[in-house]
This record gives sequence, structure tokens and C-alpha cells, in this order.
Amino acid sequence: MTFDVEVIKKDFPGLAREVNGQVITFLDSGASSQTPTQVLDVMDHVYNDHYANVHRGVYTTAQEVSNEFEASRKKIAKFINASSDKEIIFTRNATESINLVARAWGDENIKKDDVIVLTHLEHHSNVVPWQQLAARTGAEIRWIPLDSETRLDLSNADEILKGAKVFAFTAASNVTGTVTDVKELCARAKAIGAISVVDACQYVPHLKTDVQDWNADFIAFSAHKMLGPSGIGVLYGRQNLLEKMPPFLGGGSMIEDVTLYGFSPAPLPEKFEAGTPAIVEAIGTAAAIDYLNNVGFEELLRHEIQLTEYALDMFKNRFAGQVTLHGPKTSERRLAVFSFTIKDVHPHDVSQVLDESGVCVRAGHHCAKPLMRVLVDGDVTGIGATSRASMYLYNTTADIDALGDAIEKCIKFFAI
Ligand code: ALA
Repeated sequence: MTFDVEVIKKDFPGLAREVNGQVITFLDSGASSQTPTQVLDVMDHVYNDHYANVHRGVYTTAQEVSNEFEASRKKIAKFINASSDKEIIFTRNATESINLVARAWGDENIKKDDVIVLTHLEHHSNVVPWQQLAARTGAEIRWIPLDSETRLDLSNADEILKGAKVFAFTAASNVTGTVTDVKELCARAKAIGAISVVDACQYVPHLKTDVQDWNADFIAFSAHKMLGPSGIGVLYGRQNLLEKMPPFLGGGSMIEDVTLYGFSPAPLPEKFEAGTPAIVEAIGTAAAIDYLNNVGFEELLRHEIQLTEYALDMFKNRFAGQVTLHGPKTSERRLAVFSFTIKDVHPHDVSQVLDESGVCVRAGHHCAKPLMRVLVDGDVTGIGATSRASMYLYNTTADIDALGDAIEKCIKFFAI
């Protein structure tokens, strides 16, 4: 397909919404992306035409839905180049995926004084489950710091990683847009016998993902940031690791047998999927993958680099001295995610003034308080928060101009 952003935009009914008398400029895809008609139609079709629970009934409708549900799992496996669909576990979101690893793998393998290594780029989903594990076990958490452009500073990494059993890191930051070198980080984990856990929820929607090339042990992502529905996430896990882990949640579907005295778990992947799963959402995720594959990741990357360079120029030239942009200064290994602070103005006020122009950005700590403390502690606002514009395939340079105009209005408004 030829990449035409104006054509793509028409697929997203949510982008036509008007607020305060104007069509919105949606710049919050890092939190959740909009959903195209093609995905909504597929999900409607299941609910309208052949809805039933999966893996339980032998009647025609139940068989059809079960087949579609499992076909979605296969599509996801192919999408990230997993070696088997047994390695694809459906969860509620990326957060649950990471919790699953921290609980099911962590409780079996982490003991007092073991070392878990995280990075300053992580958002809470890849911090708190490990802090909980450390609190349960007495393990130590160590951190990889950042350089002045919010890239991982690996100069002391060998020392920090020494003796680690877990290395959990993001593939791309939801705050700064920094893209990390996942392959290199997985290799570092492997070299010391640690497992690698990759928070890939900002990466998978934007860049071609290949878990075998990464040689990753676990990766977590969710559908709602990649044009799919909310309420469903994915855990990819290396099969031999998943096989050895005990179940995370107990209940229906995850058992082979249950007696009065105990149970035996089902084989993969059901072992980790207790209860009725997000059936229609799984099928919707496959439709989102079809949409992304049809656009093509090369075209998507080209478009996002163009947006990134345009936005970086704007922040540098139009707002020099007035707006601080946090994150890498070039488009290299960087997503179109822009966290910024306006001198002397609270990010919540910025977001509110931008909303008056129909510009939707997220404001606050972006579920990454430790990173906020690194980035903006000592900043004049002193509140560890930024405004964040995050872009996707349906955004245009006109959206960036609209953001710029709204920022200008905001600066003028608070100047008096
Ligand atoms: N990770 C989500 C965001 O960045 C919550 O907004």
C-alpha cells in the first residue's frame, strides 16, 4: 500500500471528533492509540454474527470463535517472529504480562540478595512488580542510569549487572521516546546468565519486532497502543522457560485435571490463561496486525522519522529558551514522543490550555515517577511532571503545527 496519511486518517473515526468547536489534534497515542474501522468491524462481526466462549463448546459457533481466537495467537506469534504460538500468552495488558513473570518465574528463582537490574527509563509496570518481588524475597535492585540525552549509560553496566538474575528494561521509553538497543541488552543478560524481560509496549506498535533476533526471554506488550482494543495484552516467553514456570492465576481453562486434593496444570499456553479470555479483543488484535502489516513497517518508520524531525526542529527553533524538550535530540533510535516543560508553567495547566485548541496531550508523571525525578527534579516546576505529545501513523506535520500554535498561546496566556 502507498503510504498516504490523509487516506489513513479517514480509517479512524475517533480522529473526527470535535472539542471546543474544532476537530481534535490527537497526540496521545503513547497512552492509547485510536482504533481503525477495519478493527472495529471485525470485532462487531464477532459479537453480531458468531459470538460464543472459546475452548468449551463443540457446537458450530463455539468452534468458529475458538478457531479465530487461536488463529489470532498464531498471527501474533508470526508478527513478532516467535518460534511457536505456545510462546504467546494472552493477558489483560503489558503490566499483567510483567507481573506474571515477576510472580511465576520470580518467586521460583529469586532468593535473598539476588540482583535484579532495571533502568532509569522504566515506567511503573516494569518497576513495581520487581520492587514487590524484591520485597517478598529480599533481593537487591540496581539501576542502569541515563546520559544527558536520556540514552542508557552503559559505561558501568558490567559492574551493575554483575551477578544479576534478571535484567528488565524498556525497548522504547513512553516519556522520552528513547529506543534502546534491545539485542545488545539481551546479549548482556545472556552473558551473565540473567533472564531478559523487555517492556516492548511502546516499541511493538512502531518498529518491526523480532524476538528471535533479539534473543529475548520475555517481552510484554498490549494491543491498545497498536490500533487494537484495550483489555488485552501479550506475554511472549521462551518456551523452555514458560514450561518450567508454575501457573500465575488459578481457575478454569488453565488445568489439565482437578480433584478434591489438587490440580495439574494444562500445557502451554493455556497454563497461563485462567478464566474466560478477552475473546473478541484477541481477534481484534489480529485485525490490528493486519492493518499494520498492510501499511508496512518501513513506510511507518519513514513517516514517523519525518514527524520526529519536524517536531524536533519546531521545539529547537520556535521555542528556544522557552520550552525544554526531554529526550534524544535527533531522530536516530527515537520515537515521535515529545515530553516538554514550558518555563514556569505546570504541565497540567499546559494540557488544559492545549485542550482549548483541541490538542490532546498527556500531562503528569506518565506512570514513570522515578524517571521524572531524574529528568525534571530541580526543574523550576519542581513537581516531576511534563506534558507529552506522542504520535502515530495518522499524525501529520499539520498536527505538529497545531501543537506549536497551542504552545505559543499557552506561553502568551501565562506570560501576564
Ligand atoms: N504507558 C502509558 C503512557 O505512557 C500509560 O501513557
